[in-house]
Amino acid sequence: MKTNPSARVTSEITTQTIRRHVFWAAAITALGGLLFGYDTGVVSGALLFLHVDFGRISSLDKELVTSLLLVGAMVGAFFAGKLADTIGRRRTVLITTVLFMVGVLGAGFSPSLLVLIIMRFVIGVAVGSASMVVPLYIGEAAPPNLRGALVSFNQLAITSGILSAYLVDYGLSYTQNWRLMFGLATIPAAALFVGMLFQAESPHWLIAQGREDEARAVLKRVRASGEIEAEITEVRELSQKKTHARDLLNPKVRGALTVGILLAVFQQVTGINTIIYYAPTLLHGAGLGNSASLLANVANGVINVAMTIVAIRLIDRVGRRPLLLVGTSGMAISLVVLALAFVVGGNHLTGATAIIAIIALLLYTGSFAVGLGPTFWLLISEIYPVGIRGRAMSVATIANWGANFVVTISFLTLLNAIHGSGTFFLFGFLTIVALVYFQRKVPETKNRSLQEIERDLFGGESSKVGGER
Ligand code: BGC
Repeated sequence: MKTNPSARVTSEITTQTIRRHVFWAAAITALGGLLFGYDTGVVSGALLFLHVDFGRISSLDKELVTSLLLVGAMVGAFFAGKLADTIGRRRTVLITTVLFMVGVLGAGFSPSLLVLIIMRFVIGVAVGSASMVVPLYIGEAAPPNLRGALVSFNQLAITSGILSAYLVDYGLSYTQNWRLMFGLATIPAAALFVGMLFQAESPHWLIAQGREDEARAVLKRVRASGEIEAEITEVRELSQKKTHARDLLNPKVRGALTVGILLAVFQQVTGINTIIYYAPTLLHGAGLGNSASLLANVANGVINVAMTIVAIRLIDRVGRRPLLLVGTSGMAISLVVLALAFVVGGNHLTGATAIIAIIALLLYTGSFAVGLGPTFWLLISEIYPVGIRGRAMSVATIANWGANFVVTISFLTLLNAIHGSGTFFLFGFLTIVALVYFQRKVPETKNRSLQEIERDLFGGESSKVGGER
């Protein structure tokens, strides 16, 4: 049978239009990820200049300014899940954005150190909320074959946010203007707020609320027309059962919850943020000059962004598991090499050991960026039932920020106690444990609709969430 060329053109245009809509929805929402990255990254540079306005700054003050964001993030993640399930994903993003604006403006204009510390907590609440609601929102709007890439825009935005924070810190360092360093985040926050006003609510959440006509109107923009009714019926069926927070403890959900929590904890205890937050300190302490340390740090930020782009290109084609397993293996190898560099070079790396340490560091970040970085946030947006997706993601997200907090506050102590060699051997060991766990328990979700994943994991009696593969 001959195909009608004009019909083909119409359907191609439709596919393109769908792609454009979901692309923009993902790109706008991912500004939440940019704020996450920027606000976590900017502090290292800003800390250097707080004394200009507030006089002597103790180590405790510095720790509070840095780590209260992480505590706030746990609180934000705690409330955001329930909020997203109750008032909707879009409204939760809007509230989060208002919090961001209050926090960053408050930090930029803080009249005292105490206000600054409180504002860092407020920013943290917004960061924690954004970190879970952004992948949740994008994941539900995205068609299955693009979901991995689109949700990972969030990780790309996080890494770009971290890199821009380094560059802003560096660029503004000669002015010592720490207020502007914090305050510049108002720009993406305002853009996110305005952008979100024009975005639709998540279709799956609307269906779960019985608002199918609205969901249909949204789906018309992001799905081929033949797929819409089937998706509505499926999501309706899956969300019909009233769900409560206690369903998180139902044995089947508990399995998926454990996978999410352990992915979260492993994402942090394998050391990424010790590098993101402390690389210059580490390299400088290891004997590298100031400018060499800063340069290595920027290179690290660039590799983080570049390898996330590689992950985005691959994640829907090769799948989540291969990227996760290859990336985690790369991390393990580079951590062991880094530890060995410290064994051979002692605490003052020079010449060959310094070069090897920098290469290992870059390889480590690249491996994280291609695997555990994007796949953690993606998988937790995919493996939970629609009725309690927000709350289940909350639990995994709290675990992530909690583990981040523990690692961040103990890192410098650890470095003093067991030196670079011991610390990185420890991270290397934990990475190998993570690898074994991922190999055995993490499911593949590539190219399956969220409904299919839910049926696979929770549907029949035989399905085992997080069971042996
Ligand atoms: C992690 C952050 C980390 C960032 C680095 C994210 O996936 O959750 O803790 O700072 O990746 O790129």
